[in-house]
Amino acid sequence: MHLYLQFIVGLFLAYIMKKIFLTKKEKEIPGMEPSSKDMGNLEDLGQAGSLHQFLVRLHGKYGKITSFWFGTQKVVSISSPEMFKEQQSVFDRPPILFKFFEPLIGPNSLQYTNKDAGKAKRREYDRSMSHKAITRYLGEFNAVINEIMDMLCKDMERGVTEHALCTHMATFALKADLMTLFGYVSDDSKITEFQNNYNIYWSAMEASLGGKCPEPGSKEEEDLQTALKGAKDFVKGVVEIRQKLEIREENERFIDILIRHSADEETLLDDAVTYVVGGFHTTANYLIWGIYFLAGNSAVQDRLHVEILEHCEKDESISMSTISKCVYLKQVSDETLRCSVLAPFAARYLDEDILLGGYPIPGRTPIVHALGVSLHNPEYFPEPSKFDPDRFSPENIKNRPKTAFQPFGVGKRICPANRFANMEAAVCIAAMVRKFEIGLVDGQKIEAVHGLVTHPSTEIMITLKHRH
Ligand code: HEM
Repeated sequence: MHLYLQFIVGLFLAYIMKKIFLTKKEKEIPGMEPSSKDMGNLEDLGQAGSLHQFLVRLHGKYGKITSFWFGTQKVVSISSPEMFKEQQSVFDRPPILFKFFEPLIGPNSLQYTNKDAGKAKRREYDRSMSHKAITRYLGEFNAVINEIMDMLCKDMERGVTEHALCTHMATFALKADLMTLFGYVSDDSKITEFQNNYNIYWSAMEASLGGKCPEPGSKEEEDLQTALKGAKDFVKGVVEIRQKLEIREENERFIDILIRHSADEETLLDDAVTYVVGGFHTTANYLIWGIYFLAGNSAVQDRLHVEILEHCEKDESISMSTISKCVYLKQVSDETLRCSVLAPFAARYLDEDILLGGYPIPGRTPIVHALGVSLHNPEYFPEPSKFDPDRFSPENIKNRPKTAFQPFGVGKRICPANRFANMEAAVCIAAMVRKFEIGLVDGQKIEAVHGLVTHPSTEIMITLKHRH
């Protein structure tokens, strides 16, 4: 009897052990083993071309939650609307994935400020992006796009038939960002100098993501440092001009809040650079892709033109009321953000262990939000590479979860400037489409480069005809 009991207890224990073991195994997140001990999957990432393309492959193979190794750090990546929703209340961002960006925006940047200090910054800075605050910027957006369009008209009068879309949109976005958020009325030569320095540094930074770094001490490295210093000195100059002024509270802009709130000069400069860079590079590419898609889709462009004329006189400024009445304009903007995968990823982490999608995640594990994978998920966006603003018609929106479309990130740490960027895009696109019939110069091969922001591989040349 004693032996029999021992046998039964043994069987029972084996059963329990098996159950525990299986549950643990089942609960292991499917993903890649490290290809090398120190580099993890960084070489695989380089071969894929970008983190976005790597994530597309990884989620395609392993599903909505997967893992890989960023060097010696295990990283989890999610792409489903349900899991994005589970992450909505998480604030902290893992600095490791954005470290390469640090020489440009600085270690004190909001990008790396977590916990209470990050939340306090957001509470203050976000006041400059409220609905009321951005309404004040509308006149300035109109003024800057009118200046760019006047320049284009003069070029047309001089017989120019092909226009550089990326250059014009980058200038618009930078001037608009500096004027609205920094109260800086630009000196064109300084703007061009900043753009040149910035482009040199940004291209090298993106190349370093693919493993191409200049030799330490080389001329190339020295030129890069000079470009970086030039770009930062420009922003420093913009801040110093504003520091000398006395601004009344009702006239305060982002820069005034920043000057008042910053604990020290380093934080002030780092966050100023963060908002100049965050503000112009993203928006410039938002507009570039928007105009590019419209130039290649005349039916969409014509429908948008009709809508704009219906809600706005020929020479009137683009107003808040026009923007809110132009439903199709918003559809075009949303489809631009989706189709271009403008900002392909974000990330979070927590100090404590959590369950995500039913899987246990150890504390301090970086969790990538594969926003771009979700934006091209055929389950919610059939034929994902096709530009089709009707996906965002009021009826079609109802047929998918809200969190399937998260171009500005998820939850508490969503991009602070989402309303600002959408308003800027609405003004620029509406003004351009009202005035011009836009086309693409034949024979161009435009490819998307997915860095931290998705941009075209080369300049895009467009044609313009006056609309009557
Ligand atoms: C044009 C379209 C833009 C897109 C698609 C975009 C997208 C994003 C995304 C995905 C994030 C990460 C959010 C997250 O972690 O969940 C982010 C953060 C951020 N964006 Fe944007 N952004 C845009 C425009 C702008 C503009 C115009 C500015 C500034 C004027 C800006 C400033 C920032 C800043 C400062 C952060 C970091 C916020 C924090 O750390 O709390 N962005 N953006």
